[in-house]
Amino acid sequence: MKEQIQEAEGKLGILIPGLGAVATTMIAGVESIKKGLSQPIGSLTQMGNIRLGKRTENRYPKIKDFVSLTDLNDIVFGGWDVYEDNVYEAAVHAKVLEQGTLFAIKAELEKVKPMKAVFDKTYVRNLDGKNIKVGATKYDLALQVMEDIENFKKTNECARLVMVWCGSTERYIEQEDVHENIYAFEAGLKNNDPRIAPSMIYAYAAIKKGVPFANGAPNLTCDIPALVSLSKEMGVPVAGKDFKTGQTLMKTILAPGLEARALGIKGWFSTNILGNRDGLVLDDPDNFRTKEVSKLGVLEDILKPEERPELYGDLYHKIRINYYPPHGDNKESWDNIDIFGWMGYSMQIKINFLCRDSILAAPIVLDLALFMDLAHRAKMSGIQEWLSFYFKSPQTAEGLRPEHDIFKQLIKLQNTLRHMMGEDLITHLGLDYYQELVEAL
Ligand SMILES: NC(=O)c1ccc[n+]([C@@H]2O[C@H](COP(=O)([O-])OP(=O)(O)OC[C@H]3O[C@@H](n4cnc5c(N)ncnc54)[C@H](O)[C@@H]3O)[C@@H](O)[C@H]2O)c1
Repeated sequence: MKEQIQEAEGKLGILIPGLGAVATTMIAGVESIKKGLSQPIGSLTQMGNIRLGKRTENRYPKIKDFVSLTDLNDIVFGGWDVYEDNVYEAAVHAKVLEQGTLFAIKAELEKVKPMKAVFDKTYVRNLDGKNIKVGATKYDLALQVMEDIENFKKTNECARLVMVWCGSTERYIEQEDVHENIYAFEAGLKNNDPRIAPSMIYAYAAIKKGVPFANGAPNLTCDIPALVSLSKEMGVPVAGKDFKTGQTLMKTILAPGLEARALGIKGWFSTNILGNRDGLVLDDPDNFRTKEVSKLGVLEDILKPEERPELYGDLYHKIRINYYPPHGDNKESWDNIDIFGWMGYSMQIKINFLCRDSILAAPIVLDLALFMDLAHRAKMSGIQEWLSFYFKSPQTAEGLRPEHDIFKQLIKLQNTLRHMMGEDLITHLGLDYYQELVEAL
């Protein structure tokens, strides 16, 4: 496989539908890092290391020195939004980063101006932008996005492109017949089927143009059979859904630990307050439902209550998100976890996480863009489950249970990189060389 991976030469265009808080924080971060003003903290592709071979070999290179990833200096950004603000103005509006930080990279950020968006107010009622494409059918809109992709690639002289959805969470919908296969889907595009969401139109356009697509929101988007099969046919990687930040990140760190120690859990109550535009959109119950479904599966998949009813059979899991403007992007979350131990004695864990949503999400967007591009150069296509590490609700093949345990997800990600590069997979067994080591002492 190693020999087949094309080197990361030339420019990589990162195309983003939704230039809001997350996207602008990511772009500003990359520009600031390029100028030597910041460090890429939280990014595995930039700061992570990977162990290779036996522990005795002491090989622990940086991931970016082990696999061929695009250099940050070779990245160009583009995107779409329903608002006309350029990335500098949108970042100022989002109020995630300080004015001084943004001012140092103002010229770079001002250059990224949003293209007109594919938008449908029935999917996001709480937004009211005017920078919107017009087309007789959804198919026409998809063709317009394909044209944008082509023009962007040509104008910016990109060798390759990737697309990462950072747009608002769309209202909750379930998979229906129009999503079943590409014929039904394309007919739906041409008939303006209301069950085709804007995010699906971007995903369709990207895949058709051979551009890897990752979905940072909990919407169905490319998690439908029509687009999964198209991605395989076109040789394009896809991944989703919903960036794993904040409270769910904590959940997938903590729950595997409690489960590993066979401690019981009676209840897990999670509540959040946040005041950014994401919070405003999620204030609509239909949009909140999409997020709730994405967040709820996590504990069940880690704890598997049906197999361990004595520990997790009665688990009560509740999630609340409340829009609270004074907090802006600084989301505050509280978790109350009722656990029980030896002989059924109860205990409680309380977590109060004062996080910064977009600061946690930005490195995920960058890593996903770079790894999706790597996967494409490695000729991998369809669902990239090895990137589950980054998602709240990892997209899997139909009928397959997602892996939520962050430690297993990391092992899968690292083993995939080892596999790509022809290195031994690491099982952490160590028995094969442990005895030799002891005898040598
Ligand atoms: N911040 C996090 O920690 C986090 C974690 C997981 C998922 N997410 C998801 O990432 C997405 C972005 O979050 P954010 O905080 O940047 O939100 P945001 O509201 O600041 O940005 C979203 C942007 O998308 C734009 N948009 C909406 N529909 C669009 C369309 N059809 N085409 C183009 N642009 C469109 C909006 O105008 C807005 O500027 C949301 O769906 C959010 O749920 C965020």
